[in-house]
Amino acid sequence: MHGKRIAEIMERGMRAFSEAEDESVLLALETEYTGRKSALGEILKGLKDLSPEEKKEVGPIANEARLALGRAASAARTRIETRKLAEDERFDVTIPGSAAPLGHLHPITRLSHEIEDIFAGMGFSIADGPEAETEFYNFDALNVPADHPARDMQDTFWLKQDGLDEKYVLRTHTSSVQVRYMESHVPPFRIVIPGRIFRNEATDASHEHTFHQFECLMVDEAGSVTVAHFKHTAETFFREFFGRDVEVRLRPSFFPFTEPSFEFDISCILCDAKGCPVCKKSGWLEIGGAGMVHQNVFTAAGYEEGKYQGFAWGFGLTRLAMMKYRIPDIRLFMGGDVRFIRQF
Ligand code: DAH
Repeated sequence: MHGKRIAEIMERGMRAFSEAEDESVLLALETEYTGRKSALGEILKGLKDLSPEEKKEVGPIANEARLALGRAASAARTRIETRKLAEDERFDVTIPGSAAPLGHLHPITRLSHEIEDIFAGMGFSIADGPEAETEFYNFDALNVPADHPARDMQDTFWLKQDGLDEKYVLRTHTSSVQVRYMESHVPPFRIVIPGRIFRNEATDASHEHTFHQFECLMVDEAGSVTVAHFKHTAETFFREFFGRDVEVRLRPSFFPFTEPSFEFDISCILCDAKGCPVCKKSGWLEIGGAGMVHQNVFTAAGYEEGKYQGFAWGFGLTRLAMMKYRIPDIRLFMGGDVRFIRQF
């Protein structure tokens, strides 16, 4: 009697497993046919109560059925999983992809690259130098005497000397790279120096302890580089940068490393020099400092006095970025808030 039931269960079970099409059906079939509470499970559990003859007859058939149904279940599982895998791999190239989050360059870096490209187009090379700089390259070599008040023009972060022979500062301007470069190069050359600089001062919307400058230096034999070269270079640069004609104006000024020295302004690009809040109704934007390189700077670099002539200028890259993108607070650039950075 048991034998017949077992055969029936097995037949139904084998068919059911071979027809199972998905995981949930398969799980239900396993409970029904191979689980401990299945009909077969009950028969197997009851074997111990049978007479020895019955046990001998039913035991092997029941065990055989259990193994066969187990194999059928695992065959069904392999079949279902293989098919699912094939389906998952089917791939519709027309479905729009989900965009991977991508970072991008900081607006100052982008602007710096843009400016470098313009200068490269005018035959300038790009140079750089260290941010932790010696007092020599940041001040002395630039003709700033030790006790000269000009040294106070820039609030300096002095680094701990800690057994070093020289005093180190966080460079207060990119001009610190001028003499470094000259020491290893012979004129003629034209270079630009983009870089991060540091000032020890209270911060507010227009003052930051860390910002970026852009330095420009062109040197050749005495008599061959003049203020006119500077003016032309500046005009060409700003025309390219802003995509329209820009006037450059020089005002006499003082820097220890240039003689004569100027400050230079450009005609306000926001209001076409008509007068607006950004140019404080003057029609001019103050951009930076410039001048003809002081002979003492050349001699600090080891050049023979009077042999060369050149112009140098430096301007605030961060300030230019603020004008270009109309950003009212300088602290946003280095503030590390990605909501600001993501807008570029
Ligand atoms: N280094 C000056 C500053 O940070 C800017 C400057 C002025 C750079 C005159 C120059 C220059 O190259 O010739 O304020």
